[in-house]
Amino acid sequence: MPQLFNSISSDTFFSEYWQKKPLLIRQAFPNFTCPVTPDELAGLACEPEVESRLVYRQLNKKKWQLEQGPFNEDKFSHLPKADWSLLVQGVDHWIPELADLLDCFRFLPNWQLDDIMASFSPPGGSVGPHFDEYDVFLLQGLGERDWKIGQTCNHSEPCVKGTPLRILDTFEEVDSWVLQPGDMLYLPARVAHFGTAMTDGITLSIGFRAPSHEEILEDVSRHILDTMVENKHLQMRSQSLQKHPGEIQPDVIAELGNIIRQHLNDDNITQWFGCFSTQPKNPEIVSAPEDEISTDDLLALCDESEWLVWNEGSRFCYTTPNNDLMTLFVDGEAYALSKSQLSFVQRLSEKRRMAIDELATFARHGDIDDLLAKLINTGSLYFE
Ligand code: SIN
Ligand code: CO
Repeated sequence: MPQLFNSISSDTFFSEYWQKKPLLIRQAFPNFTCPVTPDELAGLACEPEVESRLVYRQLNKKKWQLEQGPFNEDKFSHLPKADWSLLVQGVDHWIPELADLLDCFRFLPNWQLDDIMASFSPPGGSVGPHFDEYDVFLLQGLGERDWKIGQTCNHSEPCVKGTPLRILDTFEEVDSWVLQPGDMLYLPARVAHFGTAMTDGITLSIGFRAPSHEEILEDVSRHILDTMVENKHLQMRSQSLQKHPGEIQPDVIAELGNIIRQHLNDDNITQWFGCFSTQPKNPEIVSAPEDEISTDDLLALCDESEWLVWNEGSRFCYTTPNNDLMTLFVDGEAYALSKSQLSFVQRLSEKRRMAIDELATFARHGDIDDLLAKLINTGSLYFE
């Protein structure tokens, strides 16, 4: 049976823990060396295209202060010795080793895996007791951190007033552990948690996606409007004379429902979700290379490379083939392909790297050159 993080079978994790209850995994990554250093994190926090925050804490006063990045370099030489945290979002987009680390979590589907946030804190640093709307694995990268977990919260859980952070008013401690490098804590969405650095340390939060209903409806509507070919108007197929002009009769509602369902069909939802779930976080991450290649250049590129690799910010998903067609979604774009390309697409979407030898076996059995050249020219794939 496949083992996750050398300690638990994937069946047990799914049936007993995933989206159900917390799990501490000691030495999930034995001898773990954090792929990002505190200095690199501070450097990233100075970049305008990287989302970063500093959270300062005043012990026992329930007071928290937030500053949004980007920061000036000299900011980091003037910070106090304790009680603050630097949080940097989407670090896997900028550090290839962290993008590779995400492959360890692909027992969950690509559409659900979001990104890695890294936090650096000196002793006492914390973002306070809070809950998140998504599942998270908290992997200790460096130093020691005390994690306390608490109640499962609902949307109306009271928060501390007068701070822009969502700090819980009441934290009911249920369990606590000190995590060392390589230890990892899994938390389902909405479990209250409160981490405090014991020493200088880095925590990597591997986050999952849980789009809100509002986000889903807003985005699917925009997609349907953008792809609509014909702008038809409401037409009442059967209408009877009505006595009271103020009344909206049920047949109007039925007709409106028909229109809405006609557009919100499974094909449209599939096309939308493929594009939505592979959209890169920001346009700077996946950008076209300077020189465009043609399919004729592929052989030479393969000869001089070891790996075919996803861009750090790229996301790959595909849909189950329907008749002879299937769709591959990469970075918000849909590629209509033939079913004969399924095994290549499955492998391409499985993990970030493919050895050139393996790529060669696919190339021998089918026509993948056009697709490869396109994905290299959009910047979604590169040779290394
Ligand atoms: C942190 O690393 O301090 C916060 C991570 C989290 O609570 O999700
Ligand atoms: Co959290």
